[in-house]
Amino acid sequence: MPRDLFPPQSRAGIDDVVILGGGLAGLFCALKLAPRPVTILAAAPIGEGASSAWAQGGVAAAVGEGDSIDRHVADTVAAGAGIVDRKIATLMASEAAARIEDLLAYGVPFDRDAAGHLVVGREAAHSERRIVRVHGDMAGAAIMAALIAAVRKTPSIRILSGFVGEAVQADGPSVTGVVVRRAGPRSRPVVFPARALVLATGGIGRLYAVTTNPAPAEGGGLAMAARAGAKLADTEFVQFHPTAIAVGKDPAPLATEALRGEGAILVDDTGARFMPAEHPDAELAPRDVVARAIHRRLVAGHKVFLDCRKAIGAAFPERFPNVAARCREAGIDPVADPIPVAPAAHYHMGGVLVDANGRTTLDGVWACGEVASTGAHGANRLASNSLLEAVVFSARIAEDIHGLLPSPVNAPWPERNDARARAAAEPDSRAVSLLRQTMSTHVGVERNASGLRHALATFADLEAKARQPRLLNMLAVAKLVAAAALLRTESRGGHYRSDFPAPDPAWQHRTFISLAQADAIAEGARASMHDLGMEA
Ligand code: SIN
Repeated sequence: MPRDLFPPQSRAGIDDVVILGGGLAGLFCALKLAPRPVTILAAAPIGEGASSAWAQGGVAAAVGEGDSIDRHVADTVAAGAGIVDRKIATLMASEAAARIEDLLAYGVPFDRDAAGHLVVGREAAHSERRIVRVHGDMAGAAIMAALIAAVRKTPSIRILSGFVGEAVQADGPSVTGVVVRRAGPRSRPVVFPARALVLATGGIGRLYAVTTNPAPAEGGGLAMAARAGAKLADTEFVQFHPTAIAVGKDPAPLATEALRGEGAILVDDTGARFMPAEHPDAELAPRDVVARAIHRRLVAGHKVFLDCRKAIGAAFPERFPNVAARCREAGIDPVADPIPVAPAAHYHMGGVLVDANGRTTLDGVWACGEVASTGAHGANRLASNSLLEAVVFSARIAEDIHGLLPSPVNAPWPERNDARARAAAEPDSRAVSLLRQTMSTHVGVERNASGLRHALATFADLEAKARQPRLLNMLAVAKLVAAAALLRTESRGGHYRSDFPAPDPAWQHRTFISLAQADAIAEGARASMHDLGMEA
């Protein structure tokens, strides 16, 4: 049985807000909740396990000359391929400038020109230069460094790392806490009581064999919410970044889209540039178009490279220090050599359904960042809208919690450092390797009905033998993605079905799926495979 790690008497006077996840959304929410006491539970030492710290793009915000909130919304809606919630996208774009001000106040050193104006960069599918950056491609690392420093200076915030979320604990319809487990093979589940639980656990990249996400991005928060009965949205929509650096590393280092924004081109192993024939915007076409074009060449046995020599050349290390360092580690000199690239699972547009205040359909549970599905991204997220969404909606959650819970007694935590820090990454078991390979092969850049059924049957088979809660959660999310992908018999945004290659107007809407539905679809796939005498 899970036990209460901090019995109620030891917490007298302390408000019970627990944030699960120590990335941008979690830290920003905690800062906005201050001075209300908050516990952040993170899988890895703070700053180490979060995708946010690896973000190379920046924060999209209509702060450049000639830009407008309307244009930002229009680009977001266009990228989202017909199913963006315009109201939510408008709210997000409208609050961008204020959140950039907040980040500046927390000490984020966004790039400025000689006149002191914020420098804005260009990325694919943005009609304007709109990406607020730090030293070219260091935005994620710099934002996280500033917020970690701010959080450490805030006495109301307690950080405990090395805890992996396992389940939402509820009494009837209301949350009462969160069940977590320390990293390590023989750890026992423990409960952190909570009147308000904020899920900020990040995405699902690690469910794929090739991903740009760090190890903790394995969908834990999504699985927990699904098991507790939360409504989930758009789970079939996964974004594959076209240009992960293909040097066999797991996770795969990223070559930011900003490189293509600055004129870098994609070539195959014959040196031929292929994107102009694929889309009028060539290398700056929507991510799914570029990812598919690269994927098809790789499947046909070619190699693909990002050639930055002419567009960026000798300025590369100075302008893109992060990518330059990743290249150096892999023995590539981007000034002299084209960079080998391949698509990699990068971002989940789907997630736990939330409203404009980040409320899930579970009483007392909020979600923000990649684990949430606000509707702002539709079927395909616009570059650099993810950090923006994280700060806009985590701030709104804090506001909502302030309004709902009585004023805190404001007792600072007696112990508030992350002394329990321990990396949560564990080597892949055979089951995890099979899950990840199956997701990449059958639930990846291109999908079809037979591959999706095969994947679902594989997940059901693995689940029948699985005991570990963490593996069971990964399998639950894999099923939610594959089942929704099987149901959507069309192609739209990040979801491409080779057996239904066109968009279908009848499918121009968001989708909602429960774990029970996904289970039933997976069991059906497993039964028919076994009837046919086929092993999944
Ligand atoms: C990139 O820099 O290419 C990634 C930015 C993003 O995913 O928004």
